[in-house]
Amino acid sequence: MKSNNATGIELPRPVPAPLPGVGQKPGGRPLSLGLRIARFLAVARMVIVIYAGYKSLQLWGKLSGRGSRKNFYQAQDRRAARRVRDTAVRQEGLLIKACQFAGSRGDILPPEIVEILSELHDRVPPRDFTVIKPWLESQLGRSVEECFETLEPLPVAAASLAQVHRGTLRSGETVAVKIQYPDIDRIIAADLANIGFFIRLLARIERSFDFRVLLEELHRYLPLELDFVNEAANARRFAENFADDDRVVFPTPIPELSCRTVLTMNYIEGIKISRVEQLQDAGINKHEVAELLVDTYLRQILSHGFFHGDPHPGNLLVQPGPVLVILDLGLAKEFTPESRDGLVELTAAIIGRDAASIGRAFRKLGFETRDRNDDTFHTLAELFLGQALADGRAYADLAMIERISDELLRALRANPIVKASSELLLVLRVMGLLSGIGKQLDSQVDPLQAMMPFIFSVEQHDAAG
Ligand SMILES: Nc1ncnc2c1ncn2[C@@H]1O[C@H](COP(=O)(O)OP(=O)(O)O)[C@@H](O)[C@H]1O
Ligand SMILES: [Mg+2]
Repeated sequence: MKSNNATGIELPRPVPAPLPGVGQKPGGRPLSLGLRIARFLAVARMVIVIYAGYKSLQLWGKLSGRGSRKNFYQAQDRRAARRVRDTAVRQEGLLIKACQFAGSRGDILPPEIVEILSELHDRVPPRDFTVIKPWLESQLGRSVEECFETLEPLPVAAASLAQVHRGTLRSGETVAVKIQYPDIDRIIAADLANIGFFIRLLARIERSFDFRVLLEELHRYLPLELDFVNEAANARRFAENFADDDRVVFPTPIPELSCRTVLTMNYIEGIKISRVEQLQDAGINKHEVAELLVDTYLRQILSHGFFHGDPHPGNLLVQPGPVLVILDLGLAKEFTPESRDGLVELTAAIIGRDAASIGRAFRKLGFETRDRNDDTFHTLAELFLGQALADGRAYADLAMIERISDELLRALRANPIVKASSELLLVLRVMGLLSGIGKQLDSQVDPLQAMMPFIFSVEQHDAAG
């Protein structure tokens, strides 16, 4: 059932040269300090209120002598999650992205929090069509009536960067028109500046928490996510890589109706991957979906060397088959053959509990510790990856995180990682997201077994080369 992609791989058609001022942000306004401060204050307020909430529960427990009551904490979790969600909806930008990540982690976060935050995967309150329509026309340089036969004024979904309207073309084809929020790049720029300030401050105060690598990554990838010409190119590349596999589908961009801020593509039906009951009602086996999901991402990382970095449930749909639909391809990255070999070596070294090889593999992957010895790598490998592999399960859980977090923090403090491979950071993000979905689907996948065919093919390839 690859009907949505039946034309196969489209040869890239040239994106029409934008008219002067078209596809550009209004006047390229400079980043205002006021906006930065306002956003900072809103987040600070949120943090303080939530912190005070937990503290007062703790205090009350002590004073009343009743200790901590689970249901009180659950109620506070819900209140906190609602407050974070509401602040994110008001502020937009990176806070929504952070909530999307947290809302995907059903493996390590309580269900009440996940339920509330996962609304932000695709149900952010949209902008009004009276604002969106003129903006769309200014970006495409033509009137909506010229471009589309119909365009629904109510969006089908709205998320972190854009809202998506369904429409039809004169040819009768149903399309999804992804329209970037008009001021989103200013908002993202303000958030990046604020986060940068904190990360640099933290790195100065507490030298073992240096997240500047992450900051560099955000600076590199967010502008690409805001460029839908890049997303369209990624979509074509993924479709090409999966051309021989009709279990995986990507949207096909329509370049004539796209630009940096608008992406028109074929409309694809499907059930959001985390709606387990709906999947069941449609006769779709969730265990098969979990297998397909893991296989699809392992293939991207270990076989194609080009992978999607944002598999949260809002970006994954399922059709009967099961067929996996992957949307929102702005965040994608190369995984070089060297990194792939490093990852395969690391896996083998962890399984074999071979300390020397573990260090070598981490270094090959581009990691460095402050003291240049491998202690931290060993702890990391044993605690985190070793446990996950030994458990033979495709997802983490709270008990596992609790078990390893103290020891891991101690190791990181004693000898922090000062350099990390940016590819691996994104792979870790993907693993985290897949772990969350794996839990929701009650995945039966053994990650090691799933990796085996790919490890084997790398070794064969090496032997041949
Ligand atoms: N081609 C499509 N067909 C059907 N629905 C789509 C399509 N593209 C996007 N959507 C819907 O719109 C939502 C937001 O689109 P997405 O590309 O994820 O934007 P964002 O970058 O803002 O997250 C998706 O979660 C999905 O529900
Ligand atoms: Mg999305």
